[in-house]
Amino acid sequence: MLGSGKGSNFVALADALAAGQLPAEVALVLSDVEGAGILGHASVRGFPARYLPPGKFRTKLDEAAEAAYLGALREAQVDLVVLAGFMRILKGEFLRAFEGRVVNIHPSLLPSFPGLAAWKQALDYGVKFTGCTVHYVDQGVDTGPIIGQRAVPVLDGDTAESLHARIQLAERELYPAAIAAIARGDVKVRGRLTSGFAG
Ligand code: GAR
Repeated sequence: MLGSGKGSNFVALADALAAGQLPAEVALVLSDVEGAGILGHASVRGFPARYLPPGKFRTKLDEAAEAAYLGALREAQVDLVVLAGFMRILKGEFLRAFEGRVVNIHPSLLPSFPGLAAWKQALDYGVKFTGCTVHYVDQGVDTGPIIGQRAVPVLDGDTAESLHARIQLAERELYPAAIAAIARGDVKVRGRLTSGFAG
């Protein structure tokens, strides 16, 4: 699992694992942010977790960092890379190494509102429903095949914070269920289309 933030999606996945609802193991947790909440949550639960410096760019890993991330993931023999609030774009070499084996959760109903602070984009646009999307990661930004989505209402008086909090409640249900379906081998991909996950 890769994350940059407070780690609520990690906690949801760890809780699902502990409850026997997720036929998987967490081999390694990596963060590009020193002291990120996700690393603390992983360490207290006894999962291997560490900060790996991202290098000299702001929005992606530099070449040396990408090699370090790939090396660590290969050494841990991961089958699936789960992005949980990892705020850097993964590209070329990384995606070739883990082709079709990187998933992400994005806080909007894609293809609406890709990119940063998607809940704020939705609020500012004035949509009445937004939500979250679990998708495979391809070479674009938030463009890969969609595995599952949950809709969330935008309520009168919502702030960016209240809307994000409501979306995160939906994320905590959707992500473990989607990853469990992948782990069971239920999710099939044909081009852009996926099947096998109802959530
Ligand atoms: C989540 O809301 C996730 O959807 C978002 O970051 C948050 C991480 O929260 N990801 C993106 O915006 C990716 N473009 P967490 O650290 O509490 O799991």
